[in-house]
Amino acid sequence: CGIIGVLGRHQAAPIMVEALKRLEYRGYDSAGIATVDDGRLDRRRAVGKLANLADLLVTDPLPGFAGIGHTRWATHGAPTTSNAHPHRTGPVAVVHNGIVENFRALREELEADGAALESETDTETVAALAARHLAAGMTPVEAALATVDRLKGAFALAFLFDGHPDLMVVARQGSPLAVGHGDGEMFVGSDAIALAPLTDRITYLEEGDRAVVTRAGATFFDGSGREVRRAEQRIAASAVTDKGNYKHFMLKEIHEQPAVLADCLRAYADGGALRLPETLDFRGCRRVTIVACGTAYLAGLVAKHWIERMARIPVEVDVASEFRYREPPVPEGTTAIFVSQSGETADTLAALRYMKGKADRIVGVVNVATSTIARESDIVLPIHAGPEIAVASTKGFTCQLAVLALLALKAAFDLLGRDPAPDLATLDRLPGLMNEALGAEPGIESAAQELALASDALFLGRGAMSALALEGALKLKELSYIHAEGYASGELKHGPIALVDRDMPVIVVAPTDPLLEKTISNMQEVMAREGRVVLLTDAAGAKAAGQGPVRVLTMPEVPAILAPMIYAVPLQLLAYHTARLKGTDVDQPRNLAKSVTVE
Ligand code: G6P
Repeated sequence: CGIIGVLGRHQAAPIMVEALKRLEYRGYDSAGIATVDDGRLDRRRAVGKLANLADLLVTDPLPGFAGIGHTRWATHGAPTTSNAHPHRTGPVAVVHNGIVENFRALREELEADGAALESETDTETVAALAARHLAAGMTPVEAALATVDRLKGAFALAFLFDGHPDLMVVARQGSPLAVGHGDGEMFVGSDAIALAPLTDRITYLEEGDRAVVTRAGATFFDGSGREVRRAEQRIAASAVTDKGNYKHFMLKEIHEQPAVLADCLRAYADGGALRLPETLDFRGCRRVTIVACGTAYLAGLVAKHWIERMARIPVEVDVASEFRYREPPVPEGTTAIFVSQSGETADTLAALRYMKGKADRIVGVVNVATSTIARESDIVLPIHAGPEIAVASTKGFTCQLAVLALLALKAAFDLLGRDPAPDLATLDRLPGLMNEALGAEPGIESAAQELALASDALFLGRGAMSALALEGALKLKELSYIHAEGYASGELKHGPIALVDRDMPVIVVAPTDPLLEKTISNMQEVMAREGRVVLLTDAAGAKAAGQGPVRVLTMPEVPAILAPMIYAVPLQLLAYHTARLKGTDVDQPRNLAKSVTVE
Protein backbone atom coordinates (compact mmCIF):
# COMPACT_ATOMS: atom_id res chain seq x y z
CA CYS A 1 0.00 0.00 0.00
CA GLY A 2 1.10 3.60 -0.50
CA ILE A 3 0.63 6.61 1.76
CA ILE A 4 0.68 10.33 1.02
CA GLY A 5 0.02 13.26 3.34
CA VAL A 6 -0.11 16.99 2.61
CA LEU A 7 -0.25 20.10 4.79
CA GLY A 8 -0.17 22.53 1.92
CA ARG A 9 -0.89 26.00 0.63
CA HIS A 10 -3.15 24.77 -2.18
CA GLN A 11 -5.97 22.30 -2.64
CA ALA A 12 -4.61 18.96 -1.39
CA ALA A 13 -6.81 16.55 -3.38
CA PRO A 14 -5.20 16.98 -6.83
CA ILE A 15 -1.71 16.89 -5.31
CA MET A 16 -2.57 13.67 -3.49
CA VAL A 17 -4.10 12.02 -6.56
CA GLU A 18 -0.91 12.73 -8.52
CA ALA A 19 1.24 11.38 -5.69
CA LEU A 20 -0.93 8.27 -5.41
CA LYS A 21 -0.40 7.66 -9.13
CA ARG A 22 3.30 7.46 -8.39
CA LEU A 23 2.57 5.07 -5.53
CA GLU A 24 0.13 2.90 -7.44
CA TYR A 25 2.87 0.32 -7.97
CA ARG A 26 2.41 -0.57 -4.29
CA GLY A 27 -1.19 -1.67 -4.80
CA TYR A 28 -4.24 -0.72 -6.80
CA ASP A 29 -7.25 -2.51 -5.33
CA SER A 30 -8.81 0.70 -4.06
CA ALA A 31 -7.82 4.25 -3.18
CA GLY A 32 -9.01 7.12 -1.06
CA ILE A 33 -8.26 10.51 0.42
CA ALA A 34 -9.40 12.52 3.43
CA THR A 35 -9.03 16.26 3.89
CA VAL A 36 -9.69 18.89 6.52
CA ASP A 37 -11.48 21.90 5.04
CA ASP A 38 -12.46 24.82 7.24
CA GLY A 39 -11.68 22.51 10.10
CA ARG A 40 -14.08 19.82 8.85
CA LEU A 41 -12.84 16.29 8.15
CA ASP A 42 -14.28 14.44 5.15
CA ARG A 43 -13.18 11.65 2.80
CA ARG A 44 -13.75 10.01 -0.61
CA ARG A 45 -12.95 6.40 -1.48
CA ALA A 46 -13.28 4.24 -4.59
CA VAL A 47 -12.71 0.60 -5.49
CA GLY A 48 -10.29 -0.34 -8.27
CA LYS A 49 -7.72 1.78 -10.00
CA LEU A 50 -6.90 5.30 -8.96
CA ALA A 51 -8.71 6.59 -12.05
CA ASN A 52 -11.97 5.67 -10.31
CA LEU A 53 -11.09 7.89 -7.36
CA ALA A 54 -10.09 10.68 -9.72
CA ASP A 55 -13.48 10.34 -11.51
CA LEU A 56 -15.33 10.41 -8.21
CA LEU A 57 -13.54 13.60 -7.22
CA VAL A 58 -14.77 15.27 -10.40
CA THR A 59 -18.41 14.68 -9.48
CA ASP A 60 -17.91 14.93 -5.76
CA PRO A 61 -14.88 17.15 -5.04
CA LEU A 62 -13.12 17.24 -1.72
CA PRO A 63 -11.79 20.69 -0.83
CA GLY A 64 -9.16 21.39 1.81
CA PHE A 65 -5.47 22.24 2.02
CA ALA A 66 -4.64 19.38 4.41
CA GLY A 67 -5.09 15.72 3.60
CA ILE A 68 -4.00 12.12 3.72
CA GLY A 69 -4.34 9.58 0.91
CA HIS A 70 -3.84 5.91 0.25
CA THR A 71 -3.66 3.32 -2.50
CA ARG A 72 -4.39 -0.17 -1.26
CA TRP A 73 -3.25 -3.74 -1.78
CA ALA A 74 -5.84 -5.71 0.18
CA THR A 75 -4.69 -7.72 3.20
CA HIS A 76 -7.50 -7.75 5.77
CA GLY A 77 -10.85 -7.53 4.01
CA ALA A 78 -11.82 -7.61 0.34
CA PRO A 79 -11.14 -4.60 -1.91
CA THR A 80 -14.49 -2.88 -1.27
CA THR A 81 -15.25 0.79 -0.68
CA SER A 82 -15.91 0.25 3.01
CA ASN A 83 -12.55 -1.49 3.40
CA ALA A 84 -10.72 1.26 1.48
CA HIS A 85 -8.61 3.83 3.30
CA PRO A 86 -8.72 6.39 4.84
CA HIS A 87 -10.58 4.79 7.73
CA ARG A 88 -12.51 7.11 9.91
CA THR A 89 -13.99 6.99 13.37
CA GLY A 90 -15.63 10.27 14.37
CA PRO A 91 -12.96 12.97 14.35
CA VAL A 92 -10.04 10.71 13.32
CA ALA A 93 -8.98 9.54 9.83
CA VAL A 94 -6.14 7.08 9.32
CA VAL A 95 -4.20 5.65 6.38
CA HIS A 96 -2.06 2.61 6.94
CA ASN A 97 0.44 0.39 5.17
CA GLY A 98 1.31 -3.02 6.64
CA ILE A 99 -0.46 -5.21 9.17
CA VAL A 100 -1.54 -4.59 12.75
CA GLU A 101 -1.08 -8.05 14.16
CA ASN A 102 -3.01 -7.59 17.41
CA PHE A 103 -6.04 -6.03 15.71
CA ARG A 104 -8.43 -8.84 16.74
CA ALA A 105 -7.73 -8.29 20.43
CA LEU A 106 -8.07 -4.52 19.93
CA ARG A 107 -11.29 -4.97 18.02
CA GLU A 108 -12.80 -7.12 20.79
CA GLU A 109 -11.75 -4.55 23.35
CA LEU A 110 -13.31 -1.71 21.34
CA GLU A 111 -16.51 -3.65 20.67
CA ALA A 112 -16.82 -4.56 24.34
CA ASP A 113 -16.59 -0.82 24.93
CA GLY A 114 -19.53 -0.21 22.59
CA ALA A 115 -17.69 0.75 19.37
CA ALA A 116 -19.46 -0.19 16.11
CA LEU A 117 -16.84 -0.92 13.46
CA GLU A 118 -17.82 -0.64 9.81
CA SER A 119 -15.07 -2.52 8.01
CA GLU A 120 -13.17 -5.78 8.31
CA THR A 121 -9.81 -4.04 8.32
CA ASP A 122 -7.17 -3.85 10.98
CA THR A 123 -6.82 -0.15 10.17
CA GLU A 124 -10.26 0.82 11.42
CA THR A 125 -9.34 -0.39 14.89
CA VAL A 126 -6.49 2.16 14.83
CA ALA A 127 -8.88 5.03 14.05
CA ALA A 128 -11.37 3.78 16.64
CA LEU A 129 -8.71 3.50 19.32
CA ALA A 130 -7.51 7.04 18.66
CA ALA A 131 -11.11 8.32 18.73
CA ARG A 132 -11.64 6.66 22.11
CA HIS A 133 -8.51 8.37 23.48
CA LEU A 134 -9.80 11.72 22.17
CA ALA A 135 -13.16 11.15 23.82
CA ALA A 136 -11.32 10.46 27.07
CA GLY A 137 -9.81 13.95 26.90
CA MET A 138 -6.46 13.46 25.20
CA THR A 139 -5.17 15.94 22.62
CA PRO A 140 -4.92 14.64 19.02
CA VAL A 141 -1.13 14.20 19.34
CA GLU A 142 -1.47 12.34 22.65
CA ALA A 143 -4.27 10.20 21.24
CA ALA A 144 -2.29 9.22 18.13
CA LEU A 145 0.90 8.45 20.04
CA ALA A 146 -0.97 6.44 22.70
CA THR A 147 -2.67 4.49 19.91
CA VAL A 148 0.57 3.68 18.12
CA ASP A 149 2.04 2.43 21.40
CA ARG A 150 -0.67 -0.23 21.57
CA LEU A 151 -0.04 -1.63 18.08
CA LYS A 152 1.95 -4.75 17.23
CA GLY A 153 3.14 -5.68 13.75
CA ALA A 154 4.83 -3.95 10.85
CA PHE A 155 3.19 -0.77 9.62
CA ALA A 156 3.35 2.87 8.60
CA LEU A 157 0.51 5.18 9.66
CA ALA A 158 -0.71 8.73 9.13
CA PHE A 159 -3.46 10.37 11.24
CA LEU A 160 -5.56 13.43 10.40
CA PHE A 161 -8.01 15.08 12.82
CA ASP A 162 -11.26 16.98 12.49
CA GLY A 163 -10.81 20.59 13.59
CA HIS A 164 -7.01 20.43 13.08
CA PRO A 165 -6.10 21.62 9.58
CA ASP A 166 -2.42 22.04 10.52
CA LEU A 167 -1.59 18.65 11.99
CA MET A 168 -0.61 15.16 10.89
CA VAL A 169 0.79 12.49 13.17
CA VAL A 170 2.74 9.70 11.49
CA ALA A 171 4.52 6.55 12.62
CA ARG A 172 6.89 4.07 11.13
CA GLN A 173 7.29 0.57 12.48
CA GLY A 174 8.49 -1.88 9.83
CA SER A 175 7.17 -0.05 6.76
CA PRO A 176 8.99 2.92 5.29
CA LEU A 177 7.79 6.49 5.62
CA ALA A 178 9.40 9.83 4.84
CA VAL A 179 8.58 13.44 5.68
CA GLY A 180 9.03 16.03 2.92
CA HIS A 181 9.92 19.64 3.76
CA GLY A 182 8.41 22.33 1.55
CA ASP A 183 8.28 26.09 1.75
CA GLY A 184 5.54 26.66 4.34
CA GLU A 185 4.22 23.23 3.41
CA MET A 186 4.93 19.74 4.68
CA PHE A 187 4.37 16.31 3.17
CA VAL A 188 4.60 12.66 4.12
CA GLY A 189 4.97 9.74 1.75
CA SER A 190 5.82 6.07 1.51
CA ASP A 191 8.82 6.76 -0.65
CA ALA A 192 10.93 9.39 -2.33
CA ILE A 193 9.20 8.87 -5.70
CA ALA A 194 5.88 9.97 -4.17
CA LEU A 195 7.47 13.11 -2.76
CA ALA A 196 9.94 13.91 -5.52
CA PRO A 197 7.97 16.53 -7.48
CA LEU A 198 6.73 18.16 -4.26
CA THR A 199 10.08 18.70 -2.62
CA ASP A 200 13.67 17.51 -2.84
CA ARG A 201 14.23 17.78 0.94
CA ILE A 202 13.17 14.73 2.83
CA THR A 203 13.72 13.06 6.18
CA TYR A 204 13.30 9.31 6.50
CA LEU A 205 11.71 8.15 9.72
CA GLU A 206 13.92 5.58 11.42
CA GLU A 207 12.49 2.31 12.53
CA GLY A 208 10.10 2.90 15.49
CA ASP A 209 9.93 6.68 14.93
CA ARG A 210 6.81 8.79 15.22
CA ALA A 211 6.55 12.37 13.96
CA VAL A 212 4.24 15.28 14.66
CA VAL A 213 3.98 17.33 11.47
CA THR A 214 2.69 20.90 11.09
CA ARG A 215 3.32 23.44 8.34
CA ALA A 216 6.09 24.87 10.50
CA GLY A 217 8.04 21.56 10.45
CA ALA A 218 8.22 18.10 11.95
CA THR A 219 9.15 16.90 15.42
CA PHE A 220 10.47 13.35 15.64
CA PHE A 221 10.25 10.89 18.53
CA ASP A 222 11.89 7.50 18.78
CA GLY A 223 10.12 4.31 19.85
CA SER A 224 10.58 5.13 23.53
CA GLY A 225 8.94 8.55 23.08
CA ARG A 226 12.16 10.56 23.35
CA GLU A 227 12.41 13.56 21.04
CA VAL A 228 15.16 12.93 18.48
CA ARG A 229 16.80 14.79 15.59
CA ARG A 230 16.57 13.23 12.17
CA ALA A 231 18.68 14.54 9.33
CA GLU A 232 17.20 16.10 6.23
CA GLN A 233 18.56 14.83 2.92
CA ARG A 234 18.45 16.16 -0.62
CA ILE A 235 17.06 13.68 -3.08
CA ALA A 236 17.85 13.57 -6.77
CA ALA A 237 15.66 15.52 -9.16
CA SER A 238 12.31 13.95 -9.77
CA ALA A 239 12.46 10.56 -11.41
CA VAL A 240 11.17 10.32 -14.95
CA THR A 241 8.14 8.07 -14.85
CA ASP A 242 6.27 8.54 -18.10
CA LYS A 243 5.70 5.94 -20.78
CA GLY A 244 7.28 7.91 -23.60
CA ASN A 245 6.08 6.50 -26.91
CA TYR A 246 5.36 3.07 -25.50
CA LYS A 247 1.92 1.62 -24.89
CA HIS A 248 2.93 0.22 -21.52
CA PHE A 249 5.61 0.83 -18.93
CA MET A 250 6.59 -2.81 -19.25
CA LEU A 251 7.39 -2.49 -22.94
CA LYS A 252 9.33 0.70 -22.29
CA GLU A 253 11.30 -0.97 -19.53
CA ILE A 254 12.06 -4.01 -21.70
CA HIS A 255 13.44 -1.72 -24.40
CA GLU A 256 15.45 0.33 -21.89
CA GLN A 257 17.55 -2.70 -21.01
CA PRO A 258 20.53 -2.10 -23.32
CA ALA A 259 20.88 1.46 -21.97
CA VAL A 260 20.44 0.70 -18.28
CA LEU A 261 22.73 -2.33 -18.46
CA ALA A 262 25.39 -0.10 -19.98
CA ASP A 263 24.90 2.32 -17.04
CA CYS A 264 25.08 -0.52 -14.58
CA LEU A 265 28.26 -1.98 -16.03
CA ARG A 266 29.86 1.46 -16.23
CA ALA A 267 29.19 1.92 -12.52
CA TYR A 268 31.10 -1.21 -11.55
CA ALA A 269 33.72 -1.89 -14.19
CA ASP A 270 36.33 0.33 -15.69
CA GLY A 271 38.92 -0.48 -18.33
CA GLY A 272 39.07 -4.20 -17.57
CA ALA A 273 39.05 -3.71 -13.79
CA LEU A 274 36.26 -4.29 -11.29
CA ARG A 275 35.16 -1.24 -9.31
CA LEU A 276 33.24 -2.74 -6.42
CA PRO A 277 33.36 -1.38 -2.85
CA GLU A 278 36.61 -2.27 -1.10
CA THR A 279 34.69 -3.77 1.80
CA LEU A 280 33.28 -6.40 -0.57
CA ASP A 281 36.21 -8.74 0.04
CA PHE A 282 35.49 -12.45 -0.29
CA ARG A 283 38.77 -13.62 1.24
CA GLY A 284 37.75 -15.89 4.12
CA CYS A 285 34.29 -16.38 2.67
CA ARG A 286 33.35 -20.05 2.61
CA ARG A 287 29.75 -19.89 1.64
CA VAL A 288 27.22 -17.54 0.09
CA THR A 289 23.53 -17.36 0.96
CA ILE A 290 21.23 -15.49 -1.42
CA VAL A 291 17.73 -14.60 -0.25
CA ALA A 292 15.00 -12.85 -2.26
CA CYS A 293 11.41 -13.10 -3.53
CA GLY A 294 9.79 -13.47 -6.93
CA THR A 295 11.87 -12.54 -9.93
CA ALA A 296 14.72 -11.37 -7.69
CA TYR A 297 14.89 -14.90 -6.28
CA LEU A 298 15.27 -16.25 -9.81
CA ALA A 299 18.17 -13.85 -10.36
CA GLY A 300 19.68 -15.46 -7.25
CA LEU A 301 19.30 -18.92 -8.80
CA VAL A 302 21.31 -17.79 -11.83
CA ALA A 303 23.96 -16.28 -9.55
CA LYS A 304 24.37 -19.63 -7.81
CA HIS A 305 25.57 -21.10 -11.11
CA TRP A 306 28.05 -18.27 -11.64
CA ILE A 307 29.48 -18.10 -8.12
CA GLU A 308 29.82 -21.87 -7.70
CA ARG A 309 31.42 -22.28 -11.11
CA MET A 310 33.79 -19.32 -10.96
CA ALA A 311 34.62 -18.99 -7.26
CA ARG A 312 34.15 -22.64 -6.23
CA ILE A 313 32.27 -21.91 -3.02
CA PRO A 314 28.83 -23.35 -2.23
CA VAL A 315 25.85 -21.07 -2.70
CA GLU A 316 22.46 -21.52 -1.08
CA VAL A 317 19.49 -19.66 -2.59
CA ASP A 318 16.17 -19.39 -0.82
CA VAL A 319 12.88 -17.55 -1.02
CA ALA A 320 12.76 -15.08 1.84
CA SER A 321 9.43 -16.23 3.30
CA GLU A 322 10.82 -19.75 3.77
CA PHE A 323 14.29 -18.75 4.86
CA ARG A 324 13.24 -16.55 7.73
CA TYR A 325 10.95 -19.06 9.39
CA ARG A 326 13.28 -22.01 8.91
CA GLU A 327 15.81 -20.24 11.11
CA PRO A 328 18.71 -21.89 9.27
CA PRO A 329 22.09 -22.29 10.93
CA VAL A 330 24.66 -19.81 9.60
CA PRO A 331 28.19 -21.21 9.54
CA GLU A 332 31.18 -18.95 9.97
CA GLY A 333 32.43 -17.40 6.76
CA THR A 334 28.96 -16.80 5.30
CA THR A 335 28.31 -13.83 3.02
CA ALA A 336 24.59 -13.07 2.81
CA ILE A 337 23.19 -11.38 -0.30
CA PHE A 338 19.69 -9.90 -0.40
CA VAL A 339 18.34 -9.12 -3.85
CA SER A 340 15.36 -6.77 -4.12
CA GLN A 341 14.33 -4.30 -6.79
CA SER A 342 12.28 -2.18 -4.39
CA GLY A 343 14.44 -2.82 -1.35
CA GLU A 344 11.24 -2.91 0.68
CA THR A 345 9.90 -6.46 0.33
CA ALA A 346 8.85 -7.38 3.87
CA ASP A 347 10.00 -11.00 3.81
CA THR A 348 13.39 -10.14 2.31
CA LEU A 349 13.89 -7.43 4.90
CA ALA A 350 12.95 -9.78 7.73
CA ALA A 351 15.42 -12.37 6.41
CA LEU A 352 18.11 -9.68 6.30
CA ARG A 353 17.44 -8.79 9.91
CA TYR A 354 17.65 -12.47 10.86
CA MET A 355 21.12 -12.62 9.28
CA LYS A 356 22.41 -9.56 11.12
CA GLY A 357 25.10 -10.59 13.55
CA LYS A 358 25.17 -14.09 12.03
CA ALA A 359 26.61 -13.54 8.55
CA ASP A 360 30.09 -12.03 8.10
CA ARG A 361 28.66 -9.38 5.85
CA ILE A 362 25.32 -8.41 4.45
CA VAL A 363 25.18 -7.29 0.84
CA GLY A 364 22.08 -5.58 -0.56
CA VAL A 365 21.55 -5.72 -4.33
CA VAL A 366 18.77 -3.17 -4.79
CA ASN A 367 17.39 -0.76 -7.34
CA VAL A 368 16.08 1.84 -4.89
CA ALA A 369 19.24 3.10 -3.25
CA THR A 370 17.34 4.88 -0.46
CA SER A 371 15.31 1.78 0.46
CA THR A 372 15.23 0.06 3.82
CA ILE A 373 17.19 -2.97 2.59
CA ALA A 374 19.84 -0.60 1.22
CA ARG A 375 20.03 1.24 4.51
CA GLU A 376 20.28 -1.92 6.59
CA SER A 377 22.93 -3.69 4.46
CA ASP A 378 26.65 -3.51 5.24
CA ILE A 379 27.42 -3.14 1.54
CA VAL A 380 24.94 -1.79 -1.01
CA LEU A 381 25.24 -2.51 -4.71
CA PRO A 382 22.63 -0.41 -6.54
CA ILE A 383 21.65 -1.99 -9.86
CA HIS A 384 21.16 1.36 -11.65
CA ALA A 385 18.06 0.24 -13.58
CA GLY A 386 16.22 3.55 -13.02
CA PRO A 387 12.61 3.62 -11.79
CA GLU A 388 10.78 0.42 -12.66
CA ILE A 389 7.03 1.05 -12.76
CA ALA A 390 5.48 -2.05 -14.36
CA VAL A 391 4.64 -4.56 -11.66
CA ALA A 392 6.46 -7.39 -13.43
CA SER A 393 10.19 -6.85 -13.14
CA THR A 394 12.15 -6.76 -16.41
CA LYS A 395 15.08 -4.36 -16.47
CA GLY A 396 15.31 -4.86 -12.71
CA PHE A 397 15.94 -8.57 -13.31
CA THR A 398 18.63 -8.16 -15.96
CA CYS A 399 20.42 -5.43 -13.98
CA GLN A 400 20.29 -7.65 -10.88
CA LEU A 401 21.90 -10.36 -13.01
CA ALA A 402 24.61 -8.01 -14.24
CA VAL A 403 25.52 -6.97 -10.69
CA LEU A 404 25.48 -10.58 -9.50
CA ALA A 405 27.76 -11.58 -12.39
CA LEU A 406 30.24 -8.88 -11.36
CA LEU A 407 30.00 -10.03 -7.78
CA ALA A 408 30.80 -13.59 -8.90
CA LEU A 409 33.86 -12.28 -10.75
CA LYS A 410 34.96 -10.47 -7.59
CA ALA A 411 34.53 -13.61 -5.49
CA ALA A 412 36.54 -15.62 -8.04
CA PHE A 413 39.29 -13.00 -8.00
CA ASP A 414 39.46 -12.76 -4.19
CA LEU A 415 39.32 -16.50 -3.58
CA LEU A 416 41.18 -17.96 -6.55
CA GLY A 417 43.02 -15.04 -8.11
CA ARG A 418 40.98 -15.50 -11.29
CA ASP A 419 41.50 -12.53 -13.61
CA PRO A 420 38.17 -10.79 -14.27
CA ALA A 421 39.42 -8.94 -17.37
CA PRO A 422 38.31 -11.45 -20.07
CA ASP A 423 34.80 -11.72 -18.62
CA LEU A 424 34.57 -7.95 -18.24
CA ALA A 425 35.44 -7.62 -21.91
CA THR A 426 32.64 -10.08 -22.67
CA LEU A 427 30.22 -8.14 -20.48
CA ASP A 428 30.99 -5.01 -22.49
CA ARG A 429 29.22 -6.68 -25.39
CA LEU A 430 26.02 -7.09 -23.38
CA PRO A 431 24.18 -3.87 -24.35
CA GLY A 432 24.84 -4.43 -28.05
CA LEU A 433 23.80 -8.08 -27.98
CA MET A 434 20.71 -7.18 -26.02
CA ASN A 435 19.74 -4.76 -28.78
CA GLU A 436 20.04 -7.64 -31.21
CA ALA A 437 17.87 -9.83 -28.99
CA LEU A 438 15.21 -7.08 -29.00
CA GLY A 439 15.27 -7.32 -32.78
CA ALA A 440 13.56 -10.71 -32.50
CA GLU A 441 10.34 -9.01 -31.34
CA PRO A 442 8.29 -9.54 -34.56
CA GLY A 443 8.83 -13.32 -34.43
CA ILE A 444 7.99 -13.34 -30.75
CA GLU A 445 4.76 -11.43 -31.39
CA SER A 446 3.67 -14.06 -33.83
CA ALA A 447 4.57 -16.87 -31.37
CA ALA A 448 2.48 -15.00 -28.79
CA GLN A 449 -0.57 -15.31 -31.03
CA GLU A 450 -0.45 -19.09 -30.62
CA LEU A 451 0.44 -18.93 -26.96
CA ALA A 452 -2.52 -16.67 -26.24
CA LEU A 453 -4.83 -19.55 -27.22
CA ALA A 454 -3.29 -21.98 -24.74
CA SER A 455 -4.54 -22.58 -21.23
CA ASP A 456 -1.27 -24.07 -19.98
CA ALA A 457 2.37 -23.83 -20.95
CA LEU A 458 5.62 -25.46 -19.93
CA PHE A 459 9.06 -23.81 -19.92
CA LEU A 460 12.23 -25.93 -19.91
CA GLY A 461 15.93 -25.16 -19.55
CA ARG A 462 19.15 -26.61 -18.18
CA GLY A 463 21.86 -25.16 -15.96
CA ALA A 464 21.44 -21.40 -15.51
CA MET A 465 18.71 -21.62 -18.15
CA SER A 466 16.56 -23.67 -15.75
CA ALA A 467 16.20 -20.44 -13.74
CA LEU A 468 15.25 -18.64 -16.96
CA ALA A 469 12.60 -21.31 -17.58
CA LEU A 470 11.16 -20.46 -14.17
CA GLU A 471 11.28 -16.76 -15.00
CA GLY A 472 9.56 -17.32 -18.37
CA ALA A 473 6.76 -19.24 -16.65
CA LEU A 474 6.42 -16.66 -13.88
CA LYS A 475 6.20 -13.79 -16.35
CA LEU A 476 3.62 -15.57 -18.50
CA LYS A 477 1.37 -16.49 -15.60
CA GLU A 478 1.49 -13.12 -13.86
CA LEU A 479 0.80 -11.14 -17.02
CA SER A 480 -1.51 -13.30 -19.12
CA TYR A 481 -3.06 -15.49 -16.38
CA ILE A 482 -2.17 -18.57 -18.46
CA HIS A 483 -1.13 -21.38 -16.17
CA ALA A 484 2.57 -21.94 -16.73
CA GLU A 485 5.27 -24.03 -15.11
CA GLY A 486 9.02 -23.87 -15.40
CA TYR A 487 11.19 -26.96 -15.03
CA ALA A 488 14.78 -28.02 -15.28
CA SER A 489 14.74 -29.99 -18.55
CA GLY A 490 16.10 -33.09 -16.83
CA GLU A 491 13.06 -33.19 -14.55
CA LEU A 492 10.70 -33.40 -17.51
CA LYS A 493 10.40 -37.14 -17.34
CA HIS A 494 9.80 -37.10 -13.60
CA GLY A 495 6.36 -35.55 -13.85
CA PRO A 496 5.58 -32.72 -16.23
CA ILE A 497 5.82 -34.95 -19.31
CA ALA A 498 2.44 -36.35 -18.21
CA LEU A 499 0.92 -32.99 -19.12
CA VAL A 500 2.29 -32.95 -22.65
CA ASP A 501 -0.23 -33.29 -25.47
CA ARG A 502 -0.87 -31.52 -28.76
CA ASP A 503 -2.44 -28.54 -26.97
CA MET A 504 0.54 -27.90 -24.76
CA PRO A 505 3.08 -25.30 -25.87
CA VAL A 506 6.52 -26.15 -24.49
CA ILE A 507 9.00 -23.31 -24.57
CA VAL A 508 12.57 -24.63 -24.55
CA VAL A 509 15.32 -22.18 -23.59
CA ALA A 510 18.53 -23.58 -25.06
CA PRO A 511 21.49 -21.47 -26.16
CA THR A 512 24.40 -23.38 -27.65
CA ASP A 513 26.41 -24.63 -24.69
CA PRO A 514 27.80 -27.97 -23.50
CA LEU A 515 24.28 -28.97 -22.34
CA LEU A 516 22.53 -28.30 -25.64
CA GLU A 517 22.60 -31.93 -26.81
CA LYS A 518 20.87 -33.06 -23.64
CA THR A 519 18.21 -30.38 -23.90
CA ILE A 520 17.55 -31.35 -27.51
CA SER A 521 16.95 -34.93 -26.35
CA ASN A 522 14.41 -33.63 -23.83
CA MET A 523 12.80 -31.59 -26.57
CA GLN A 524 12.49 -34.71 -28.70
CA GLU A 525 10.75 -36.47 -25.82
CA VAL A 526 8.19 -33.67 -25.92
CA MET A 527 7.79 -33.79 -29.70
CA ALA A 528 7.34 -37.57 -29.62
CA ARG A 529 4.22 -36.87 -27.57
CA GLU A 530 2.97 -34.23 -30.01
CA GLY A 531 3.90 -31.34 -27.71
CA ARG A 532 4.26 -28.03 -29.56
CA VAL A 533 7.84 -26.92 -29.03
CA VAL A 534 8.86 -23.28 -29.29
CA LEU A 535 12.65 -23.27 -29.24
CA LEU A 536 14.63 -20.25 -28.08
CA THR A 537 18.16 -20.73 -29.32
CA ASP A 538 20.88 -19.33 -31.59
CA ALA A 539 21.61 -20.23 -35.20
CA ALA A 540 23.86 -23.18 -34.27
CA GLY A 541 21.25 -24.47 -31.81
CA ALA A 542 18.55 -24.22 -34.46
CA LYS A 543 20.67 -26.28 -36.81
CA ALA A 544 21.30 -28.91 -34.13
CA ALA A 545 17.58 -29.12 -33.36
CA GLY A 546 16.63 -29.97 -36.94
CA GLN A 547 13.08 -29.77 -38.27
CA GLY A 548 11.15 -30.75 -35.13
CA PRO A 549 10.09 -27.55 -33.32
CA VAL A 550 6.92 -25.76 -34.47
CA ARG A 551 8.79 -22.52 -34.13
CA VAL A 552 12.35 -21.37 -33.56
CA LEU A 553 13.01 -17.92 -32.14
CA THR A 554 16.59 -17.10 -33.01
CA MET A 555 18.79 -15.20 -30.60
CA PRO A 556 22.28 -13.89 -31.27
CA GLU A 557 25.16 -16.24 -30.44
CA VAL A 558 26.28 -15.27 -26.97
CA PRO A 559 29.05 -16.25 -24.57
CA ALA A 560 27.73 -18.32 -21.63
CA ILE A 561 27.99 -15.52 -19.05
CA LEU A 562 25.67 -13.31 -21.11
CA ALA A 563 23.04 -15.93 -21.91
CA PRO A 564 20.84 -15.39 -18.80
CA MET A 565 20.47 -11.67 -19.54
CA ILE A 566 19.99 -12.12 -23.29
CA TYR A 567 17.45 -14.95 -22.99
CA ALA A 568 15.43 -12.98 -20.44
CA VAL A 569 14.45 -10.63 -23.29
CA PRO A 570 12.45 -13.04 -25.49
CA LEU A 571 10.77 -14.48 -22.40
CA GLN A 572 9.71 -11.01 -21.28
CA LEU A 573 8.47 -10.13 -24.75
CA LEU A 574 6.61 -13.42 -25.11
CA ALA A 575 4.72 -12.81 -21.85
CA TYR A 576 4.14 -9.16 -22.74
CA HIS A 577 2.69 -9.80 -26.20
CA THR A 578 0.61 -12.76 -25.03
CA ALA A 579 -0.90 -10.59 -22.30
CA ARG A 580 -1.48 -7.71 -24.71
CA LEU A 581 -3.28 -10.02 -27.13
CA LYS A 582 -5.40 -11.38 -24.29
CA GLY A 583 -6.20 -7.83 -23.22
CA THR A 584 -5.06 -8.20 -19.62
CA ASP A 585 -3.71 -5.30 -17.60
CA VAL A 586 -0.02 -5.59 -18.48
CA ASP A 587 1.41 -2.99 -16.13
CA GLN A 588 -0.80 -3.80 -13.19
CA PRO A 589 -1.91 -7.44 -13.34
CA ARG A 590 -4.77 -8.43 -11.06
CA ASN A 591 -4.05 -9.23 -7.41
CA LEU A 592 -0.35 -8.37 -7.63
CA ALA A 593 1.63 -5.45 -6.25
CA LYS A 594 5.10 -4.34 -7.20
CA SER A 595 6.37 -3.96 -3.71
CA VAL A 596 4.97 -6.43 -1.22
CA THR A 597 5.47 -4.72 2.10
CA VAL A 598 3.48 -7.28 4.08
CA GLU A 599 4.45 -10.88 4.84
C1 G6P B 1 6.53 -8.72 -6.33
C2 G6P B 1 6.68 -8.24 -7.76
C3 G6P B 1 7.78 -9.02 -8.47
C4 G6P B 1 9.07 -8.96 -7.68
C5 G6P B 1 8.88 -9.41 -6.23
C6 G6P B 1 10.10 -9.11 -5.38
O1 G6P B 1 6.00 -10.01 -6.32
O2 G6P B 1 5.46 -8.38 -8.45
O3 G6P B 1 8.00 -8.50 -9.77
O4 G6P B 1 10.02 -9.77 -8.29
O5 G6P B 1 7.79 -8.71 -5.64
O6 G6P B 1 10.24 -7.72 -5.28
P1 G6P B 1 11.58 -6.98 -4.93
O7 G6P B 1 11.22 -5.52 -4.92
O8 G6P B 1 12.00 -7.47 -3.58
O9 G6P B 1 12.56 -7.33 -5.99
